Amino acid sequence: ALTGCAANTGGGGDDDLITVGFAQTGSESGWRSANTESLKAALSEENGFELIFNAADNKQEAQIAAVRSFINQGVDAIVIAPITVDGWDDVLKEAKDAGIPVILEDRTVSASDDLYATWVGLDFKQEGKTAGEWVADNFGAEPTNLVILEGTTGSSAALDRATGFAEAIDGTSINVLDSQTGDFTRDGGKKVMEGFLQKYGSEIQVLFAHNDDMGLGALDAIKAAGLTPGEDIKIVTIDAVKDGMQALADGEFNYIVECNPLLGDQVADLVKKVLAGESVDKAYIVPDGAFTQEDAIELLPTRPY
Ligand code: AHR
Repeated sequence: ALTGCAANTGGGGDDDLITVGFAQTGSESGWRSANTESLKAALSEENGFELIFNAADNKQEAQIAAVRSFINQGVDAIVIAPITVDGWDDVLKEAKDAGIPVILEDRTVSASDDLYATWVGLDFKQEGKTAGEWVADNFGAEPTNLVILEGTTGSSAALDRATGFAEAIDGTSINVLDSQTGDFTRDGGKKVMEGFLQKYGSEIQVLFAHNDDMGLGALDAIKAAGLTPGEDIKIVTIDAVKDGMQALADGEFNYIVECNPLLGDQVADLVKKVLAGESVDKAYIVPDGAFTQEDAIELLPTRPY
């Protein structure tokens, strides 16, 4: 474990602890808060870790700088939730040269997989496909106008969800009027939806938001335009955090595809295995569900995040 400056930022430089630098994307959404809490709980002193946490405010350069700082501090392992897919080759090589294993969580990178030890996350393409199949099944037989709120540009979550969704609605009567990024934030979702409503007004029949938070932001814009979300505009989102499930239970959202943020225990387990020299797979996918209004009403009281 670590001595020197990093010991002051973490759990006191106890030599028995495994020092882990975790480069989180930022704090853009309810999903992200739940993911951060899950990793902090699993990478705790109680479990044998000294955690150095950094959240990069959704800025790729800041996230790469955090990883470089972990390398300079000589941590035992680095965990990254990569903001974007591209741009990781150099810093991952630097970590490899320094003999520090990298464990990716949540999103993926385009860099060669020999530059990191393993990845644990979700099947974003399948999430987009499940959302698209719901749209296709419910509205695909009649000409229907749809708008899309995309996640952070260049993130695997946004890219793969877009691909899966497009595949699922291909060949149906769904007409995509517009698709723009709301950066996975409530504010972004609200602003972009305001723009869509100004441009297309009541032509919009369905909204697909790449996450709950953007969908929740869009609710404000839809209500301000005098329309009823869930009725005048049908809404499908991804994540299934508590606020999203509440909107679904209330009938303001119509369908949610789950994206499980509780990856901490698996990350902690993989860090220990990799450092012990045990062989691990290159990818671990956590399964997701999908929910209707009835499901949301039933599940809300026990929803953990
Ligand atoms: O990478 C997962 C996505 O990132 C979640 O769907 C979104 O809410 C988060 O910000």
